[in-house]
This record gives sequence, structure tokens and C-alpha cells, in this order.
Amino acid sequence: MIGHGLRLRTFAVSLALGLFAAGAMAHGDVTPHPVDTTGLKALGDTWLDADPYRGNAKAVEIGAEGYKHNCAACHGLNAVSGGMAPDLLALDTDCLGMAGDSKASCLKDTDEYFKDVVLNGKKNSEGRVTMPGYESVFTQEAVWAIKAYIDARTLEEQ
Ligand code: HEC
Repeated sequence: MIGHGLRLRTFAVSLALGLFAAGAMAHGDVTPHPVDTTGLKALGDTWLDADPYRGNAKAVEIGAEGYKHNCAACHGLNAVSGGMAPDLLALDTDCLGMAGDSKASCLKDTDEYFKDVVLNGKKNSEGRVTMPGYESVFTQEAVWAIKAYIDARTLEEQ
């Protein structure tokens, strides 16, 4: 009995996720699009371990565009979550309230986590893709510009 109920629940959840994915596509494009980062300092092929563009106005502007075309359909317009996908403004709330070395090392950790999730995407426990990976379309510049935008939005909301 218990096993049966569990299977039914799992099925209902998969169904809901499927509908959610279809809904997200109907309301906005969720196919990864490259980001034009012309105007930003080029960073080369070796990944930096922290966002070099934090607080850079041009990067925030470019990141906002990149976010709008790639992430907003799921994570919400202006990075305000509608509840379908995690609230990205929560990523750095704690770090940005810190000072000095603790702040830098906290932000470095969230930068790395952000980079890994964005490049590889996410799968649920059944192996279904819940977020696409952007490794094939995003340059390092694109990833850090979008993170700079999210940090700027986090500060605005504080
Ligand atoms: C198709 C919908 C979808 C798109 C498009 C999408 N995401 Fe996600 N994202 C999700 C979901 C769902 C999760 C949670 C998945 C999980 O934890 O299993 C997630 C998780 C994340 C996380 C981890 C958040 C946390 O609190 O741990 C980050 C960071 C993230 N997404 C950033 C982005 C960025 C940046 C973009 C655009 C480049 C993007 N996502 C595009 C659906 C999406």
C-alpha cells in the first residue's frame, strides 16, 4: 500500500514538473542563447575563481540582457523569483552583509557554485533535466556578467 501511494505521488510530481517545463517554454524561451559581451575586458580560457566584474556597471548591463534571454523564464523577471525555480537573490544575501576577507571568501564560494550550476545545469533525483546547462554557449565573460547582474540586484533589494 505504502509503496503504491509513493509511486503515485512520484508520478504526480513528475507530471507537475513536465507541465511546468511546457509552461516555461510557452511563456519564454528557455533555449540557451550566447551573450554578446563586447565592451568587457576579455578573460581568456582559464577560469578565474571569483567574479572579476562585480560592481562593474557595463557588466551588470550586459548580464541583465543575458539573464533576461536565458534565465528569466524560470527564475523570474529582474531576478525576482515567482516560486518556480530558486530565488537567485538569496545566493549572496549573507555574503554581501559581511566585511573584508570573510566577504571576499564567501562571495568566491557562491561564484564557484553559481559557475558550476550554470555550466552544468541541474537534474532531479530521477535524472530529469530541471535546468539546462550553458557550457556550450556561455563564455567565461557571460557567466561572470550574469553573476555581476545578480549581485547588483541583490544589493538593490537590500
Ligand atoms: C528551465 C528553467 C530554468 C532555466 C532556463 C534556468 N534555471 Fe536555474 N534552476 C532551475 C531550477 C528548477 C533549479 C533548481 C534545481 C534543483 O535544485 O534541482 C535551478 C537552480 C539554479 C541555481 C542554484 C540555486 C540554488 O539556490 O541552489 C542557480 C545558481 C541557477 N539556477 C542559475 C540560473 C541562471 C544564471 C540561469 C540562466 C543562465 C538559469 N538558472 C536558467 C530552473 C532554470
